[in-house]
Amino acid sequence: MRIAVAGATGNIGARTVTALEREGHAVVGMSRKTGVDLITGAGLEDALAGVEAVVDAVNGPVLGHAETVDWFGTATANLLAAEKRAGVRHHVLLSIVGLHRILGNAHYAGKREQERLVSEGTVPWTILPATQFHDFAVTVAGWTEHDGISEIPPLLVQPVDPDDVAAVLAETATGEPLGRHSGLAGPEPQDLVDMCRRTHLAQGRSVRLVPTWSSVLGTEMAGNVLLPGPDARIAPTTFDEWLATVRSTSGGR
Ligand SMILES: NC(=O)c1ccc[n+]([C@@H]2O[C@H](COP(=O)([O-])OP(=O)(O)OC[C@H]3O[C@@H](n4cnc5c(N)ncnc54)[C@H](OP(=O)(O)O)[C@@H]3O)[C@@H](O)[C@H]2O)c1
Repeated sequence: MRIAVAGATGNIGARTVTALEREGHAVVGMSRKTGVDLITGAGLEDALAGVEAVVDAVNGPVLGHAETVDWFGTATANLLAAEKRAGVRHHVLLSIVGLHRILGNAHYAGKREQERLVSEGTVPWTILPATQFHDFAVTVAGWTEHDGISEIPPLLVQPVDPDDVAAVLAETATGEPLGRHSGLAGPEPQDLVDMCRRTHLAQGRSVRLVPTWSSVLGTEMAGNVLLPGPDARIAPTTFDEWLATVRSTSGGR
């Protein structure tokens, strides 16, 4: 099949390109680095010529609530309109488990707008909500790291391996549209502060972590809100297995 990946140079997009190419598909990578801008629409028409399915793994800049909704809304509307013109038969959107329960977060509001446009659109679709990725803890800590100190919320998550997410996106794109998927999660719940400490150790980095709900993510994300439902698909790779790969590439403990 000929499949386009939006956000092809990103964490999940690049892995999805690899997963699709491994299966022998012709992949069109779409991102500004490859000459496709979802906000202006530049390059979209050429990129989608002959494409049967599109995976959307794009991510936007950090903005305020309304601006983030506008960013994801514009990017998604441009992509869907170009897909319709090109005759694309399946749009696969990577989304987030629990985002309809968390209303105050700007990124989640942007993702809800993406979901709304996809589910109300005319291109047949699958929305795949995933839990946080294994590298999410250090990503969050990185937002506030300063002089060897980071603030981090003590979230309860059930993290999923980025390569497992990419594999499921690739599998989904080559199948029939499913509508809203019941979600994708990793095999075990984890506490974000502990995940972060262990990832820093595996990376050989020394960062003092300050657990707090008063910094980047607030108490709206406390409790079980980020955990998957009982019907979620459970991906195989554990956080410990992922940590072992970090340790072997970074030389940490
Ligand atoms: N992090 C998590 O734990 C988690 C969990 C569940 C779901 N998700 C979702 O997963 C998605 C992908 O996340 P990620 O971490 O893989 O993203 P990422 O690494 O930040 O990559 C973002 C991609 O979007 C592209 N992009 C940005 N602006 C663009 C534009 N105007 N036009 C075209 N492409 C553009 C970037 O390429 P260029 O810079 O070359 O344009 C890049 O390829 C996000 O939507 C996120 O909500 C994340």
